[in-house]
Amino acid sequence: MTRVIVGVGGGIAAYKSCALVRRFTETGHEVRVIPTESALQFVGKATFEALSGNPVNTGVFADVPEVPHVRLGQEADLVVIAPATADLMARAASGRADDLLTATLLTARCPVLFAPAMHTEMWEHPATVANVATLRAHGAIVMEPAHGRLTGADTGPGRLPEPEEIFGLAMLLQERADAIPRDLEGRRVVVSAGGTREPLDPVRFLGNRSSGKQGYALARVAAQRGAHVTLIAGNTIGLEPPAGVEVVHVTTAEQLKVAVDKHALGADAVIMAAAVADFRPVNVAAAKIKKGAVEPNSIELSKTPDILAGLVQSRRDGLLAGTAIVGFAAETGDEHGDVLTHARAKLARKGCDLLVVNAVGEGKAFEVDHNDGWLLGADGTEIALDHGSKALLASRVLDALGPLLR
Ligand code: CTP
Repeated sequence: MTRVIVGVGGGIAAYKSCALVRRFTETGHEVRVIPTESALQFVGKATFEALSGNPVNTGVFADVPEVPHVRLGQEADLVVIAPATADLMARAASGRADDLLTATLLTARCPVLFAPAMHTEMWEHPATVANVATLRAHGAIVMEPAHGRLTGADTGPGRLPEPEEIFGLAMLLQERADAIPRDLEGRRVVVSAGGTREPLDPVRFLGNRSSGKQGYALARVAAQRGAHVTLIAGNTIGLEPPAGVEVVHVTTAEQLKVAVDKHALGADAVIMAAAVADFRPVNVAAAKIKKGAVEPNSIELSKTPDILAGLVQSRRDGLLAGTAIVGFAAETGDEHGDVLTHARAKLARKGCDLLVVNAVGEGKAFEVDHNDGWLLGADGTEIALDHGSKALLASRVLDALGPLLR
């Protein structure tokens, strides 16, 4: 059991903290909610007490014999602040301790995750920018906010990331406290994710079982590590776009290639996590194919372009000079060799810098939330990727990518 403190700032997004508290309690964590006084203007104390099963106070003078302003922070395994308002981050950055939440932040020695929510102007104000930098310098993780509709008609960066995304990053910090350094600031990273679909007619397609989860995790963690991320998404199982990530949707291998080639120009790294169809029907029927109209086995197929190999070729031609290229390989062993034998051959064939290798089949890798495998480097390095969340695997891949960036 992990002791989690959910701190709630006084912003309209405070209502979303209820879903976050719920997520922690239903996964077996012991939760204490510490709202600011103004957060209680948005959500009542009784709601937080009922959801967490624990008493809720905002000030340092309640329950004094228990010294909660020191003890709660000392005993916590994780502190998550959602929403983190501009005012709350300003107070935390300057080390104030004028309520229970800020006092707790001063005594906590565990990972601290801030999930900001405010209007775009407030997020971009130099005072907030400086406070965020200070909090990060003090070791806290301050998430990139989501882009999108804010309260009222305005849109822009400043939206609270979805509770599920905050929860996922919090769990990543539990697996690995140093999984989200700000080492990709100023970098441009392109990630492809999900499976492609090659249409046969308006109803049917050739597709694959890729869920997109591993690619989305890579995009999410890279963005939270400071990169400007473009996620080129094929078919996924309805995943929410990660906060702070630009998403381009595509369907076919051909569309994926056009989008990847376009966004790869000038990028520091391209990560091809997408499961690209190798073949596509030569003819796409304009109307639904009727049972009687085709013979079984009569669908003619042609090869799709190999996007990864194309990127490597473009780099050889000088078009993508300095861009690091990462491939993925989902392998099953067969009579010609085991998973790693196939993967080593694939790395040599594709010519990329890193190859992330997953053994697939028997409920592994596809659609599930956990993953493991190996990371093969063009320089001959082989790193075993221990079993963990797809976000953890993403953080390990990004660690290995760092030294390859120009
Ligand atoms: N890939 C690609 N374009 C394709 C097929 C694959 O860019 N047309 C990329 C994938 O995104 C992945 C890597 O190549 O990063 C390996 O994909 P995989 O399907 O394992 O490779 P294939 O070359 O198709 O090899 P296999 O013969 O095992 O199917």
